[in-house]
Amino acid sequence: MAEKVRIADIHKYEGQEVTIRGWLYNMRSSGKLRFLLVRDGSETIQCVVFKKDVSEATFADTDQLTQESSIVLTGVVSADERSPLGYEIQVKTLQIVQLADEYPISKKEHGVDFLMDHRHLWLRSSKQHAILRIRHEIIRAAQEYFNKEDFILVDSPVFTPNAAEGTTTLFETDYFGSKAYLTQSGQLYAEAGAMAFGKVYCYGPTFRAEKSKTRRHLTEFWMIEPEAAFFDLDDDMQLAEEFVSHIVQSVLKNRQPELQTLERDTSKLECIKPPFPKIHYEEAVDILKKNHIEFRHGDDFGGTDETVISEQFDQPVIVHHYPAAIKAFYMKRDPQEPQYALAMDMLAPEGYGEIIGGSQREDDYETLLQRIREHNLPEDAFAWYLDLRKYGSVPHSGFGLGIERTVAWIAGIQHIRETIPFPRTLQRLNP
Ligand code: 4AD
Ligand code: MG
Repeated sequence: MAEKVRIADIHKYEGQEVTIRGWLYNMRSSGKLRFLLVRDGSETIQCVVFKKDVSEATFADTDQLTQESSIVLTGVVSADERSPLGYEIQVKTLQIVQLADEYPISKKEHGVDFLMDHRHLWLRSSKQHAILRIRHEIIRAAQEYFNKEDFILVDSPVFTPNAAEGTTTLFETDYFGSKAYLTQSGQLYAEAGAMAFGKVYCYGPTFRAEKSKTRRHLTEFWMIEPEAAFFDLDDDMQLAEEFVSHIVQSVLKNRQPELQTLERDTSKLECIKPPFPKIHYEEAVDILKKNHIEFRHGDDFGGTDETVISEQFDQPVIVHHYPAAIKAFYMKRDPQEPQYALAMDMLAPEGYGEIIGGSQREDDYETLLQRIREHNLPEDAFAWYLDLRKYGSVPHSGFGLGIERTVAWIAGIQHIRETIPFPRTLQRLNP
């Protein structure tokens, strides 16, 4: 019996008879020949059905095949220089597993809403396939980096009793008669982890009831968040630049075909190496002024502002020392200039905007308590978090990298909705 092989491994089987299992992507006919393009998730290969080589029934079956029909076929692998894969299969037998109904996604142009409604099928198309393989590599490389640097994975809960990133974007759920919120960030728990293990990271889905309908916002997105004890803002920025460049270099090394499918200009990625430019909030404001962008001093940067700032640099740029007034309650202020928080954001090049947000954390009990009060946050829900400042408090820092925005940048995708298998936005909960 022929060996069952994945198309991606086909180069090992030249001249041998193999069985492949997959779906029909496309078919061309020419006289007594049928050219089937078959994909199995790993790759796509051309399979040639020659009338004289197969039974009459098999040839008749071939003619019935519809796009996305599932099939098992056996044949001999031969080298073929014209095909992108370098090989094709001369078919001997073909078995139809299921004859597909008329496939809703055709070669013609479809609107984004139609494609998003059919996201469960759209995932099969070559562009979506390439994006999600790059996403896979980004997540793999991100975890690889922290594992290699001896950070311990400490998972944060998804149900939480308190807000981490402001109370306006909380998703509330009923938790056996009391209120719970879907987590906005695993950070506060990662801080407890850092005091237990020194260096930790968490990775998981995070939720924000974002009312904004932009190309950068999802209501459910994935974040990877390192947190380390005895770490200041400079350490944090250095970790962030080394981490991001490791991710970019890994994608360049392991996902060239996918980057080509997406026609990504990889020269813009090849230069991503530390150190990254680091600028003070005031320098970023000056850039906006020079570019005649209307901006109110003291505000946070909006999408357009981030684009203008990031376009000044080939590398991701780190903006630090944001005004404390616009930043989260847990951020430590700079003792030398307390109007600024020891905060940093990393903005991706080419106008992709913020991919990382991070800071040094307030480590003094009294100061943190005061901030919690100033932000009108429920003190009792934060009692455990305040405890961390009572029992061996140390300077510590961390950040969160949003996976989808990182995928959008590295893959060169305009809209964040294509960077996650099943996006959740203000207007979409289906499929
Ligand atoms: O800047 P943010 O809000 O930072 C935090 O949540 C910190 N607690 C992280 C930490 O220090 N451990 O979010 C971090 C990143 C952003 O830079 C962005 O990449 C992504 O999460 N992000 C979103 N991605 C998609 N849709 C949204 N609505 C996002 N909000 C934030
Ligand atoms: Mg942020």
